[in-house]
Amino acid sequence: MKYAVCAAACLVLSGCGLFAQDDDRIARYLAMLERPEREGFQKPAQVIAALALRRGERVADLGAGSGYFTIPVAQAVGPAGIVWALDIRQPMLDYIARRLKSENLANVRLKLVAADDPQLPPGAVDTILMVDVYHYIHFEKRGAQYAPKLRPGLAPGGRVVIIDYKPKPFDQRPWGPPPEQQMSRATLDSYMAKGGFKPAKVHTFLPEQYFVEYVAR
Ligand SMILES: C[S@@+](CC[C@H](N)C(=O)[O-])C[C@H]1O[C@@H](n2cnc3c(N)ncnc32)[C@H](O)[C@@H]1O
Repeated sequence: MKYAVCAAACLVLSGCGLFAQDDDRIARYLAMLERPEREGFQKPAQVIAALALRRGERVADLGAGSGYFTIPVAQAVGPAGIVWALDIRQPMLDYIARRLKSENLANVRLKLVAADDPQLPPGAVDTILMVDVYHYIHFEKRGAQYAPKLRPGLAPGGRVVIIDYKPKPFDQRPWGPPPEQQMSRATLDSYMAKGGFKPAKVHTFLPEQYFVEYVAR
């Protein structure tokens, strides 16, 4: 049942590249991202530990959604760090703004960005984090053009961390991105190569997603 609800939300809200337009759909999308059972496969604490973020690190949470990762990343980098929470949908940023107040976090900057350009601060980001976002870009046929736009934002020695769904037929995983939106790891590698990136580290503990750290070639 819980997966049926998630699947319905995913299909309604992300299917065909369309995004939610009204408050009710936004609320359901946020609830889908924040559903407690997500923790079982998303393993946020393990992901944060694997990222080995430094105090003072500058991170862009690109496609931040509800702030599922923005909040723990902001806590991990501490007051000397900066997190840019970037999204193409203003209601997501408004929701994160409310969370930041209740969590008393002052190191997060919110920015509405274009779907075809992350508009990162030049040379200022140590880690670009994209969780469950690149498959949208892939589906919109912007995969190869988008990766090069990540490059100018990265500080020397920076990395791009991408977590996204391993392709699976709908009968094996009736939730998450529908099959037509799914993107293989090989396809992602090819997009990132176009941006001048190579895989540097691969974490294998997530059951449903690949988790890859890319660095400049
Ligand atoms: C499935 S949610 C994931 C949110 C968050 N990263 C998480 O793990 O919970 C995808 C988010 O990416 C945003 N998004 C989709 N395409 C984007 C793009 N081209 N640039 C920035 N954000 C994008 C959507 O608005 C949505 O909030």
